[in-house]
Amino acid sequence: MTKILFVCLGNICRSPMAEFIMKSLIAKNGLEKDFEIASAATGKEEEGNAVYPPAKRELLSHGISCEGKFARRMTREDYDYYDLLIGMDESNIKNMKIIAKGDKDSKIHMLMDYTDTPKSVADPWYTGDFTETWNDCLKGCTCLLESLKRQ
Ligand code: 4NP
Repeated sequence: MTKILFVCLGNICRSPMAEFIMKSLIAKNGLEKDFEIASAATGKEEEGNAVYPPAKRELLSHGISCEGKFARRMTREDYDYYDLLIGMDESNIKNMKIIAKGDKDSKIHMLMDYTDTPKSVADPWYTGDFTETWNDCLKGCTCLLESLKRQ
């Protein structure tokens, strides 16, 4: 069983998109029993809020529901519980390491570092482009799953 936590600033756009895309890829591969997937925020601004409506619409346009997801903040305990904690940009990584008080087990990584185009996941909060974020998350999650299947 591999447990993965996707993390961004608010947990209402990028990390929930990655969470529900990854769950969908895992289901398509029939690997539900092998994975536990969730997402969380480094910030507290959006705590308790549902997925941002345009992000929810983007997922739904690909047949993926994120009903029942509410933003929550990453905790120090998450670092011990999860096997991989995957951030969307460098600022997330920095804040995740503050919350985790370091990264002694090298569990913290950037999503797009699993691809052949390492970069930040496009941030729709600034671009307004949720399809670009979908494309990044899909590519990142596909490469992450392939890398885990090879192990
Ligand atoms: P997310 O998007 O980190 O992808 O969930 C954001 C959500 C909220 C804010 C920024 C980004 N904010 O500044 O409140």
